[in-house]
Amino acid sequence: MWQPKCLILVAVSLSVLACTAAGDGGGRSLVTAVTKDATTSLYTIPVKSGRPLVLDLSGPIVWSTCDDGAPHDTLECNNIDCMCAHRFHPPSCPHTGYGMPDVHNPYRCKCTPHPHNSVSGDTASGDMTRVALSANATDGMNPLGPVSFTAVTSCAPDTLLQGLPVGAVGVAGLARSSLAFPAQVAGTQGVANSFALCLSSSPGNGVAIFGGGPLFVLGQPISEMLGSNTHLRKYKDSPGYYIMASKGITMDGVQILPGEHAPLTIGLSTTTPYTELRSDVYRPFINVFDQAMECWGAAALRVPFPAASPFELCYNNSKLPQKRFGFFVLRISLMLDGGTSWPVFGMNSVVRLNRGTPCLAFVEMKAGNKAGYGDGAAPAVVIGSFQMENMLLVIDEEKQTLGFTTGQHLNNGLSCGHFNFTMPA
Ligand SMILES: *[C@@H]1O[C@H](CO)[C@@H](O)[C@H](O)[C@H]1NC(C)=O
Ligand SMILES: *[C@@H]1O[C@H](CO)[C@@H](O)[C@H](O)[C@H]1NC(C)=O
Ligand SMILES: *[C@@H]1O[C@H](CO)[C@@H](O)[C@H](O)[C@H]1NC(C)=O
Repeated sequence: MWQPKCLILVAVSLSVLACTAAGDGGGRSLVTAVTKDATTSLYTIPVKSGRPLVLDLSGPIVWSTCDDGAPHDTLECNNIDCMCAHRFHPPSCPHTGYGMPDVHNPYRCKCTPHPHNSVSGDTASGDMTRVALSANATDGMNPLGPVSFTAVTSCAPDTLLQGLPVGAVGVAGLARSSLAFPAQVAGTQGVANSFALCLSSSPGNGVAIFGGGPLFVLGQPISEMLGSNTHLRKYKDSPGYYIMASKGITMDGVQILPGEHAPLTIGLSTTTPYTELRSDVYRPFINVFDQAMECWGAAALRVPFPAASPFELCYNNSKLPQKRFGFFVLRISLMLDGGTSWPVFGMNSVVRLNRGTPCLAFVEMKAGNKAGYGDGAAPAVVIGSFQMENMLLVIDEEKQTLGFTTGQHLNNGLSCGHFNFTMPA
């Protein structure tokens, strides 16, 4: 396992630094395909010379392996980007200085941020450098031609790729930071610091658009079908995205939580395959779902969960009714701030692993889980990627809002896999 190397060199208060980016200079948004890796259930975008980086909603920087054979520039410690990169501390990595002495030049301090792999939980150190990234400009309907731009990224050792899809060379952090991928697109392209994510459940491609603007699938503007939006919240020191369910969680309209749990803090994670519920939330959640299924006469449908399944409630496939939006089960809703709700239909609540037994796709959060949350200090819910598939999510950094579709586009037969990646002649 890679040990964090965190050297104490410089100590500057960072509270005065605003590590945020502003954009919207009338440029063009960028589009990329978002590919789901079947083995890891992670999503990648092919932005480093066609090589994939893993999407991480809670990652504050972009990092990738640097070619050892080829020389690269390293930013100096007093560079503002270096200070921003050090503003966010990976779990278990102590607050330290910004770099280490350059062996080639005793008067120079090399910037060495701490790239973090939120899948394995590992952290490393690497040189902060600049690399060319690329994607296509878009009008929201088609790719319009490649655009290359220079981004500030961290190098990382090959060992930090553990747990990522084969072929992936690093991570594109999407979190709240001027060094995250969306902010660097905004800064270099003169577009809004806003992005839309449409994860596909099937092996085909979903789509991401960086810089705001419309998103069309099959000629239909699904960005106009954003039914709801809610305020993004901050949670402790995390650069990730959080929302608040002030009215808790309901199942088929019946409130099951909060009681003493209100309001619930909910995180969003593309490196967590299935939604994790903190133990005190998980138990009532599972119990109410189970009892309600029993009332539906579904108790007889319960089957023992398959070996190695992370899930607790599984059902007989031949008896669980299927509808257009997946298995016909109770509708789970997260009752968010501002009176909006995030409905979770069967296609996002029940999963069939390897075409096997359908199971309720929610898991219990482990104490001190890999995201670095200690006991009791964790958010109540971390929404995983399975629950975000086939929705359009729009994160607007400037307005600090999360917009999402609630199934209208599915009614019209539109899915995240339908973006037209053909370049017009
Ligand atoms: C741009 O889009 C074309 C057509 O879909 C694709 O072949 C190409 O790889 C894309 N380029 C980049 C840099 O993503
Ligand atoms: C599921 O139900 C069918 C039809 O009643 C039955 O034949 C089968 O054994 C059940 N499967 C399991 C795993 O219980
Ligand atoms: C995809 O876009 C291309 C280029 O604009 C167009 O010729 C083609 O008809 C579109 N395909 C679909 C299915 O809309």
